[in-house]
Amino acid sequence: MSVYSQLYEGKAKILYATEDPEVLLADFKDDATAFNAQKRGSIINKGKINCSISSQLFQQLEIYGIKTHYIDSPHPHQMRVKAVKILPLEVVVRNIAAGSLCQQTGLSVGTVLKQPLVEFYYKNDQLGDPLLTRDRLFLLELATPEQVDVIHNLALQVNEFLRDFWQQCGITLVDFKLEFGLDSQQQILLADEISPDTCRLWNIAEADPNRRVMDKDRFRRDLGNVENAYQEVLQRVLKAVESKT
Ligand code: TMP
Repeated sequence: MSVYSQLYEGKAKILYATEDPEVLLADFKDDATAFNAQKRGSIINKGKINCSISSQLFQQLEIYGIKTHYIDSPHPHQMRVKAVKILPLEVVVRNIAAGSLCQQTGLSVGTVLKQPLVEFYYKNDQLGDPLLTRDRLFLLELATPEQVDVIHNLALQVNEFLRDFWQQCGITLVDFKLEFGLDSQQQILLADEISPDTCRLWNIAEADPNRRVMDKDRFRRDLGNVENAYQEVLQRVLKAVESKT
């Protein structure tokens, strides 16, 4: 394999150029950060696990009719993706109150929302990814009104699919974050990753508020057994995909 040039290093992934300008290689790292990288650590095998989970979910979402940047996974911790220009938005969908929603509104953790809540955050580490209003999003020209409508709709469709999928895994999908990009035809593709780093996942079989956590909150809140939880999520995803074929 030729040595590709590194384009970008993020907190969880390194992006490389390939011989095809339309294709990038994403290498998933074991590094873990939280609270805008104020907390740093590493989760053994996280790169492989998150790349494998994301690959399975992107393939399932494609079957469901959602266009994603996923091409294939040549190695457990590497994904070939379509080159896109990432929109500087973090799109969060919530089904159950947790995390910053509880901190900022006073809602109790675990409150079931009457309908999914879609929120847009400004993807900007220096500013700490602040929550946007619609008007601020347009003020900063982060996306056009048409793009925002398409993304809002896609986020809800992804939620419909993922809620059902995680349920088949015995997992409640509390909330998650998506990123979108524009391809060379200005088409909006679902990008980045979908993994225990970017979703809150609660084990349906566990009532205990700490024991049920199967996502990065184990790392954020020092709950222990982080790698085991990620491994367990991967095993359940593989089983659910296998049962569909
Ligand atoms: P929050 O409750 O901290 O706003 O997080 C909402 C969801 O977004 C949760 O599933 C974790 C995910 N998330 C990321 O993927 N990256 C981030 O930088 C943050 C803050 C949250």
